[in-house]
Amino acid sequence: MEENLMTTRRTIAPDELDTLNLADPRLHAESDLSAVWRHLREHEPVHWNPATDSAPGFWAVTRHADVTAVYRDSTRFTSEGGNVLETLLAGGDSAAGRMLAITDGPRHAALRRILLSAFSPRALEPIVASVRRTVERLLRDAIDKGSCDFAADVAAGIPLGAICDLLGVPDADRAHVLSLTSSALGSHDADSTAADAWIAKSEILLYFAGLARDRREGGHADVIALLAGSEVEGLPLDDDEIMLNCYSLILGGDETARLSMVGAALALLEHPDQWQALRNGDAGIDTAVEEILRWTTPALHSGRTATTDTEVGGRAIRTGDIVTVWNASANQDERIFEAPERLLLNRTPNKHVTFAYGPHFCLGAYLARAEIGAVLAGLRDQVAAMEQTGPAGPVYSNFLSGLGSLPLMLKGA
Ligand code: HEM
Repeated sequence: MEENLMTTRRTIAPDELDTLNLADPRLHAESDLSAVWRHLREHEPVHWNPATDSAPGFWAVTRHADVTAVYRDSTRFTSEGGNVLETLLAGGDSAAGRMLAITDGPRHAALRRILLSAFSPRALEPIVASVRRTVERLLRDAIDKGSCDFAADVAAGIPLGAICDLLGVPDADRAHVLSLTSSALGSHDADSTAADAWIAKSEILLYFAGLARDRREGGHADVIALLAGSEVEGLPLDDDEIMLNCYSLILGGDETARLSMVGAALALLEHPDQWQALRNGDAGIDTAVEEILRWTTPALHSGRTATTDTEVGGRAIRTGDIVTVWNASANQDERIFEAPERLLLNRTPNKHVTFAYGPHFCLGAYLARAEIGAVLAGLRDQVAAMEQTGPAGPVYSNFLSGLGSLPLMLKGA
C-alpha cells in the first residue's frame, strides 16, 4: 500500500536546482521539493528562476520573514499584474482592478469592506451549519458504501455547496454550476481541452451575470445581492464586476479547500499516532485544523510585480520584476516552526501563511477553517478505521497542490 501514498514522490536534491523550473506543474505534482526549499531558505532565500523560451524569469522568495514582508506591502508589490504565475508569466490578468484578489489601493479596500460583511462568523452561521450536515451525510454514505474516492465522493461535495449558499444559487441550478466548474478548472481531468475550459468559464460568467440582473430587483440577501446593491468609490458595481467577483469565490474557495480536506485524510492515514491523538482528544479540532492547513498548503505560491526598485531579503529587485512568494516553503521554515517536518495536530503557535498575510489575507479563511474542522470532526466521530484501496492521483499545477483522487475504505465507528 505504501507505494500509493504521496510520500513516494521523487525527492529532488538541491544540486539539481539549476535544472529546475519552478513554474513547471509536473515538478510540483511528481516530486518532493522539501530538500530544495530547505537549501534555498538556507543559502539563497531569494532565488532567481531563469527565463525560458516562452516565459520571463521571476524571483522565488522562500523564507517566512521575507514572504510576509512581500505580502504586507501591496504598494511596493502589486497584485494588479496578476497574483499567480500562470497570469504573471502570460503578461497580466484582464480582470485586474475589478476582481478583489488582483486589485490594490483604495478600490481594493472598498471592495473588500463590502465583501467582508458577508464573510463574518455571524453571517456565515447558517452556511457553516449546513456544511456540518453535508459532511455528516457524505461520510455516512461513504461508510455505507464501504469504499469511496475521498476527493470526488466526500471533499468535492463540501466547498462548492457552501459557495453556492453564499451566492444564493438556486438548488435547481447547482448540478449545472458544479459541472461547469469542474470543466473550467479541472486540473486533473486529462480529457478536457483548453477550449472546453474556456467555454465552461464563459458559461459560468454568463450564468452569474444573469443572477446579478435578477438580484438588482431586490428581495435577496446573498453575496450577489450585496454586491449589486453596493457602491465602490461612489459608483455602483457593473455586471462584469459582480460576475468576476462571484467567480473569484469559486476560484479561491473550491479546489483549495477540497485539497486540504483530502490532504487531511491522507495525513491521518500516514500518521496513525496523530489520528489516535485526534480520536482520544489529545489534539483538539482547532489546532488540528491549523496544522492541516500548514501541512497541506494547497496554494503553493502567490505572485506580485515590483512597482519600484527595491530589495527583499537583501537582494536587489527591479521595477517590473515578477516576485513569487512560496507558502509551501515558508510553512516549513525552521526559523519559525519547531520540527516543521513533523505533523503535530496540537501545534501552537502555528503562524502558517496558507491563507497569505496582510491586505490580501484570504477572505474565506473562516469558512475554510469551518469546513476542514467539520471534516476532521466527522472523521473523528464517525470513522473507526480508514484504509487506502488504490493509487492516489496528484493535481498537475504550479499553484495548487494535493490529491485529485484518493480511494479509501472507511469503516464506521
Ligand atoms: C485570497 C488561500 C479558501 C476566497 C487568498 C490568498 C490565499 C488563499 C493564499 C491570497 C492570494 C494573494 O495574496 O494573492 C486559500 C486556501 C483556502 C482558501 C488555501 C482553503 C484551504 C477560500 C474560500 C473562499 C476564498 C473558502 C471563499 C469562499 C478568497 C478571496 C481572496 C482570497 C475572495 C482574495 C482576498 C483579497 O484579495 O483581499 N486565499 N483560500 N478562499 N481567498 Fe482564499
